[in-house]
Amino acid sequence: MARRRVFVTGATGLVGSQLCVELAEAGWEVRALTRHDLEPTLHPSIIWIHGDVLEEGYWPSAVDGVDAIVHLAGESVAAGRWTAERKRGLIDSRISSTERILDGVRDAERKPKALLCASACGYYGARGGELLDEAARPGSDFLAQLCVDWEAAARAGESLGLRVVCLRFGMVLGRGGGALARMLPIFRKGLGGPLGPPDRYTPWVHLDDATALVRRALEGGDDAMSGPVNVVSPGAVRMGEFARALGDALGRPAVLPVPLLALRLVLGEAADALVPGQHVMPQAAFEAGFRFRYDRIAVALRSLVGRASGSTD
Ligand SMILES: NC(=O)c1ccc[n+]([C@@H]2O[C@H](COP(=O)([O-])OP(=O)(O)OC[C@H]3O[C@@H](n4cnc5c(N)ncnc54)[C@H](OP(=O)(O)O)[C@@H]3O)[C@@H](O)[C@H]2O)c1
Repeated sequence: MARRRVFVTGATGLVGSQLCVELAEAGWEVRALTRHDLEPTLHPSIIWIHGDVLEEGYWPSAVDGVDAIVHLAGESVAAGRWTAERKRGLIDSRISSTERILDGVRDAERKPKALLCASACGYYGARGGELLDEAARPGSDFLAQLCVDWEAAARAGESLGLRVVCLRFGMVLGRGGGALARMLPIFRKGLGGPLGPPDRYTPWVHLDDATALVRRALEGGDDAMSGPVNVVSPGAVRMGEFARALGDALGRPAVLPVPLLALRLVLGEAADALVPGQHVMPQAAFEAGFRFRYDRIAVALRSLVGRASGSTD
C-alpha cells in the first residue's frame, strides 16, 4: 500500500505534537509546519516545514501530494485580554491561514482529499444546561463568531473536492500544555477551585481520545466522517465537579472558587468565553462508532496528574 502523507499545522502544539508522533509511528509521512528555526525533536521521520500561517510564503505548497491536511495552528485564545490587536491575530491565524491553505490546494498538481480543521466548542456560545450536538445553532459572542467564520473558511474547501471535517474541541486535557498546565500550579498549592460558577458545564476531552478521534476522522472510505465533529468526552461535567476531581487527583483541597467577576477583571471579554457553560455531546463520534477511552473526569485526571501517572509537570 502507498505511504499515506499528511500536512499538519499547529504541529508543535498540545494536540499537534502528540498527533504527529502517532501518525509518524503509524507509518504516515508527516509534513509539519512550525514558525521556529530549530526543529522540534518529536519523531525522526517528521519533515519540518518552516513558515508562519500569518505570512505568505512557500509553506502552502507543502500540501501538494499529501492525502490530507490537519490544520490546528492558531494563536492562543486563553493567553490574556482580547485587545483589538489580539482579536485580529486570533482571526488571521485561523481564517486567513485556512484561505492560504486552500490556495495551496488550488495550485497543487496532486490535490489532497481531506481537510480536517480545528474549531472549538466555543462555536455554541454560552448555553446553560441545553444539550448540544453538532446540529445545535451557534452562539453570538466573539469566540462563537470566530468559530463560525473559521468553519465557513474551511468548508469552502468542499468546492475544491475536499472532504472537510471541523473539529470542535472542548478543553483538551493533556500533559505539559493547555488549560491543565495553567491550572496545575494553583491546584498543587491547594488554592484551586471552580473557575466561574460551579454549576456551569465545561466540555473536556482527554488528549489520547482527541488524537484518536482526529485519526478516525482522517480515515476515508464509505464511512468517512465529514462536517462538524464535537471532540469532547461523553462524560460531561460541571465546573464544580471538575475542580473537585482535579483536587482529588492531586490529593489537595480545591474549594476556593474564582468568581466570574475576578476572571472578568483579569481577562475581560475572554473570561465569559472560557467558562461558558456548554453541555456538549459527541454525537458524530458516536455515529462513527468511535469509542472513548476516557468518559469519567476522575479517571482522566488521575491518568494525567495522579501519583501513578508518572507526571512531573
Ligand atoms: N487545547 C484546547 O483545549 C483547545 C480547545 C478548543 C480549541 N482548540 C483549538 O485547537 C487547535 C489546537 O490546539 P492546541 O491546544 O494544540 O494549540 P496550542 O498548543 O496553543 O498550539 C498552537 C500551535 O499553533 C501554531 N501557531 C500559532 N500561531 C502560528 C502562526 N502564526 N504560524 C504558524 N503556526 C502557528 C504553533 O506553532 P509554532 O509555535 O511551532 O509555530 C502551535 O503549534 C487550536 O487552533 C486551538 O484554538 C484547542
